[in-house]
Amino acid sequence: MVDRYGRKIDYLRVSITDRCNLRCIYCMPAEGVELKPREEILCFEELLRLIRVATSVGFRKFRLTGGEPLVRKGLIEFIRSLVQLPGVEDLSLTTNGILLPQMAAQLKDAGVRRLNISLDTLNPEKYRELTRGGDFSKVWEGIQKSLDLGFDPVKVNVVILKGFNDQDWVDFAELTCRYPVHVRFIEVMSIGTSREFAEKHFAPASQVRERIEAVLGKLVPVEVVTGSGPARYFQVPGASGKLGFISAVSNHFCSRCNRIRLTADGQLRPCLFDQRELDLRRPLRAGASDQELAEIFRKAISLKPSSYHEAVRLASGGRDMCQIGG
Ligand code: GTP
Ligand code: 5AD
Ligand code: SF4
Repeated sequence: MVDRYGRKIDYLRVSITDRCNLRCIYCMPAEGVELKPREEILCFEELLRLIRVATSVGFRKFRLTGGEPLVRKGLIEFIRSLVQLPGVEDLSLTTNGILLPQMAAQLKDAGVRRLNISLDTLNPEKYRELTRGGDFSKVWEGIQKSLDLGFDPVKVNVVILKGFNDQDWVDFAELTCRYPVHVRFIEVMSIGTSREFAEKHFAPASQVRERIEAVLGKLVPVEVVTGSGPARYFQVPGASGKLGFISAVSNHFCSRCNRIRLTADGQLRPCLFDQRELDLRRPLRAGASDQELAEIFRKAISLKPSSYHEAVRLASGGRDMCQIGG
């Protein structure tokens, strides 16, 4: 479906849980966030029905997010059913990678083709500090395994944190010379409870690019189509992998936006920055027809603001990133 501003919206990001096995400083407070009561979280049957309805509205690309999607029990069976739905052309998953060593093979077998793995530092001690206890070696093993299994592409998401991971920027870029990974640098967004931390450590993507170019030479722009997300891609000359920059703060890509979000408790969010949500759960549980549910998806698309600025003006704040799924 095309929205009011001529954007084709065919990408649904589905958060399947608000739980996470990490506590990243920029994403949630140390004590974690209050979890939704279990009965408010959609069960897999409900999610499958909503995704089927979404395909009838024109959604073709789906991404599973969290919290951390791999902590949800029954995930593999759910994915097997999901990829069989007519109209589901692309299924990907965003994970922190901790559980990948034991789950990557099952995910591949179930039908996931693309993986985005969040990793903000290559230094194990810093990783432990940033994630409040995470084990770097698990994520690293998960990345290696995903590459061996042939996920294509494997994207590594690095949130830019000036004064925290500056030392890693060039090392991450060098990974693309050794492995066919897409390393993507993401500007940290001031959202939810982590505003102060985000503001303190913000640096524009251009600064990371300059640092990398100073060491590895001029980057060459390249086109990447898979996912058609918000990243701009480059390559270190001769590298097998790619480098992406997601300027979510300094340079808005809203005019190219192709997505809406479904939260684990069944709310549709027209825009990441827009607090407004449309409730699907109540009508779903009250026996709404497929047509009635499809209408709610259409309404969400029609509510998409033209840009981040408009979204923030309409209603900013609300949930933490971990409850929206990035
Ligand atoms: P693919 O292109 O399918 O790989 O998707 P993606 O790059 O959107 O996926 P991913 O989950 O890896 O998201 C990476 C980052 O992009 C997120 O953490 C956000 O920082 C940013 N991002 C994704 N979607 C939006 C959006 O709608 N608006 C803004 N401002 N940022 C977004
Ligand atoms: N700003 C930018 N990216 C964020 N993520 C989580 N919180 C933020 C934030 N405040 C990223 C994660 C992951 C993706 C899904 O969202 O690191 O890569
Ligand atoms: Fe968990 Fe991802 Fe948030 Fe880190 S950023 S706490 S991995 S949901």
